[in-house]
Amino acid sequence: MQGGAGLAGRPRAPRPAAGDRSTASAQGSEPNRRETSGRKVELPLSIAEWRPAPIVGQVVLVTTCNEDGTTNVAPKCWAALVASHPLHLGFNCNRDHWTARNILRSREFVVNVPGSESAEKVWETARLAHPRTVEAAGFTAIPSGRVRPPRVAECHAHLECSLVRHLEFGNEVWLWGEVLAVSADAEVTDAEDPFSVLRSFVYLEPGAYGIIGGARRVGSAVVPRETSRGLRRPRRVSRPSTNDPCPSTP
Ligand SMILES: Cc1cc2nc3c(=O)[nH]c(=O)nc-3n(C[C@H](O)[C@H](O)[C@H](O)COP(=O)(O)O)c2cc1C
Repeated sequence: MQGGAGLAGRPRAPRPAAGDRSTASAQGSEPNRRETSGRKVELPLSIAEWRPAPIVGQVVLVTTCNEDGTTNVAPKCWAALVASHPLHLGFNCNRDHWTARNILRSREFVVNVPGSESAEKVWETARLAHPRTVEAAGFTAIPSGRVRPPRVAECHAHLECSLVRHLEFGNEVWLWGEVLAVSADAEVTDAEDPFSVLRSFVYLEPGAYGIIGGARRVGSAVVPRETSRGLRRPRRVSRPSTNDPCPSTP
């Protein structure tokens, strides 16, 4: 991890100052900026040189168990759902990381979703030496329902997973788990706009993140909805159009 603020082993190339950039570009001498047709600029096939990153990933805290039964916690930022029936998720990890080694051995992990209020602590966690228990990182471990690795109490949501397969790419591995249980803070699920309480965040580039601060809904219809505590709150609903690329996405 670059100074704790970037992805492990993925240094960012120094960027020329704005003035340099336009001059260099005009002279056709800037190495990583090729004009393509119209208003499009080609980006290099290297995330270390992207600005901005056109694809971003959610920051999560993955908990696993070490061989001696103690816990390990580490931030990862390329977590995504990969299938909905049954529910599966995957994330990227350096093969030499404790997280990957623990998962490949024990086949269990929990993906915890921190809110942006924990961002500084999440970055600090990546810098801590091992062994790095949940407590050593300043978080609180609470038991999971279906797997041995614990949940992180300070995170707002948790996905308990069992490894089903992994794919290796050089020194990286894509770990793919079936989601056995999902839980979230009642404060989040009961909120009128749960996303504004969840405040999940994505990794943008070294030392920078973007926050999902709330939901912007398409359409304007407001319908009441039953919450998990039986309260009725209004909910804005979008009207799926025939152009909706994911009309049946849950
Ligand atoms: C916000 C953030 C996101 C990160 N995302 C990843 C990632 O997606 N994959 C990865 O291998 N390392 C990632 N890292 C680096 C690891 O968290 C770091 O190297 C950590 O010390 C690895 O811990 P572990 O060996 O216990 O797994 C990230 C670090 C930060 C701060």
